[in-house]
Amino acid sequence: MGDTRPFVFATRGIPPDGRGADMLRESCNFHVWGGNSVMPREEMLEAVRGVEGLLVFPPDRVDRELLDAAGPQLKVIGTMSAGLEHIDLEECAKRGVLIGYTPGILTDSVAEFNVALTLAVCRRIKEGIDAVINGGWGRWENALYLSGIEIKESVIGIAGFGRIGFATAKRLKAFEPSKILYWDVGPLEYAKDVGAEFAVFEELLQNSDILIVCVSLTDGTRGLFNTEAFKKMKRSTIFINTSRGAVINQDDLYTALTTGQIRAAGLDVTTPEPLPRDSPLLSLPNCTISPHMASASEITRNAMAELTAQNIIAGLKGEKMPAPVCV
Ligand code: DGY
Repeated sequence: MGDTRPFVFATRGIPPDGRGADMLRESCNFHVWGGNSVMPREEMLEAVRGVEGLLVFPPDRVDRELLDAAGPQLKVIGTMSAGLEHIDLEECAKRGVLIGYTPGILTDSVAEFNVALTLAVCRRIKEGIDAVINGGWGRWENALYLSGIEIKESVIGIAGFGRIGFATAKRLKAFEPSKILYWDVGPLEYAKDVGAEFAVFEELLQNSDILIVCVSLTDGTRGLFNTEAFKKMKRSTIFINTSRGAVINQDDLYTALTTGQIRAAGLDVTTPEPLPRDSPLLSLPNCTISPHMASASEITRNAMAELTAQNIIAGLKGEKMPAPVCV
């Protein structure tokens, strides 16, 4: 007799030896796509036929077309992410498809990565490593060769002061910046706990030496960092984005980096993902790009997989999910 357990499909491998994978293998007829990149759309539309549960990751697009391809038996989607912009929540709600996600548990990992990327860009680590690999070590043009900026005494600006923005500020405070500014929907009581001061958007742009983007992608933040915004920044600004690529107009960022509107950028997210290898941004020494890995610590990715498995299994059983998305 065939496997009568609910058919669950994952578009990418979750940690194979972790609790999440074990739980799904025990309770479901669990299949994982065998590829090692983002699953091609056509293959995904084919693979989801007949699934009752679906495990996705950004940027897998869950829209009407994918839901139609899956079929009306689809009960639950678990996304291994805190971000939800890849999912048409209204369409899922209309069809009674439950959604679970992984908020909160990646906060520390992303905040640590914000610190790492900020330091990497401020201290020009990518340029240094490239110099070692390409024979540039020893060719000191002058004493300022590969000199960067220190966080100490800098003004840090944080756009979006939710869990990740706050956790990032808390860590960066140890570097003794002269000030931490934040921009959000309005002043937030808890910001006082890290001594951060509210700034309107314009003030944030004009005053930050290091500007770190931690906003969610919404209609209000899409394309927010464009030429108009880059022109308001200091020419010495270090710009960091670990939120979503679409909050930036990437062509405008390229212009800003090549015409000296800002000094350098660090991006963990891009449009599209993966970023094509011929992207002009990859040719810039003052642009450090990592492959959407801010939440990639072993402890966090295992916890995300486990919570995603719990969400899917609860949704399939008609029980309350530990982290449901309420539309
Ligand atoms: C998220 O959870 O949204 C992170 O960007 C990892 O995908």
